[in-house]
Amino acid sequence: MLGFFDSGLGGLTILKEAIRLMPDYSYIYLGDNARTPYGSHSPDVIYKFTSQGVARLFDEGAKLVILACNTSSAVALRRIQQEFLLGHYSDRKVLGVIIPTAEEAVKMTKSKEIGILATEATVHSFVYPREVTKIDSEIKVHQQACPLLVPIIEAGELEWEGLDLIIKKYLDQLFEKSGRIDTLVLGCTHYELISNIIKKYVPDSVKVFNQAEVVAEKLKDYLKRHREISEQLRKDDKRIFLSTEDSWRIKDLFKKFYGKKINPKKVSLY
Ligand code: DGL
Repeated sequence: MLGFFDSGLGGLTILKEAIRLMPDYSYIYLGDNARTPYGSHSPDVIYKFTSQGVARLFDEGAKLVILACNTSSAVALRRIQQEFLLGHYSDRKVLGVIIPTAEEAVKMTKSKEIGILATEATVHSFVYPREVTKIDSEIKVHQQACPLLVPIIEAGELEWEGLDLIIKKYLDQLFEKSGRIDTLVLGCTHYELISNIIKKYVPDSVKVFNQAEVVAEKLKDYLKRHREISEQLRKDDKRIFLSTEDSWRIKDLFKKFYGKKINPKKVSLY
């Protein structure tokens, strides 16, 4: 099975795109909704939570896990690949979302100035500036942390008028850093769920691309190039959903964001 992990609901955007492009595979999704948001935690806590989630997905049969979460990818991916997999699951793989996203942003920018909206942990990790400038050292990356967005999305308050004000404030702060930004990265998978609101306040000259589409395309390409992995993945179009939370609200939000009625099974990671 192909596993997808997120701190909550945001990773569903990537899962949905992956299913659209590759419907035959079996998929398992785990949202750590009981402990979201990750973005305001320290790297050690994010690593601990993420590795617990990945271990659970492996134990459920996932051969490859996608960290469908920028925060986990930014803070925990390298340590998971270098320590956790080697020590516990040397036959499995974990991939993140940062490098494919950085590559796409580099391709898109003409002004060589990119803006990033992300969680505090992702911003403080400096992973986006690092990955972007590894590809093109002339590009400037301007970051803006948006700590209020994930809690509002997880609370399902997408119609609350205060959300527009908060988004506008974050965007104003970002564009105050530079008026030359021509490409905006929604560097948190949750933000795709409110991209229609974000786009209302982004200047017309700025491109906003869909991270979920980009990551799913690159995953498809990766699986084509790595037959030794794709051949191990089951292709019986099974869909399994797990969450660390089972409140009525979570069931409702999984349905809303996945687009179909699903009943996530409650799991404990601790
Ligand atoms: N979806 C996660 C991301 O892409 C949200 C992080 C959080 O829980 O704060 O960063």
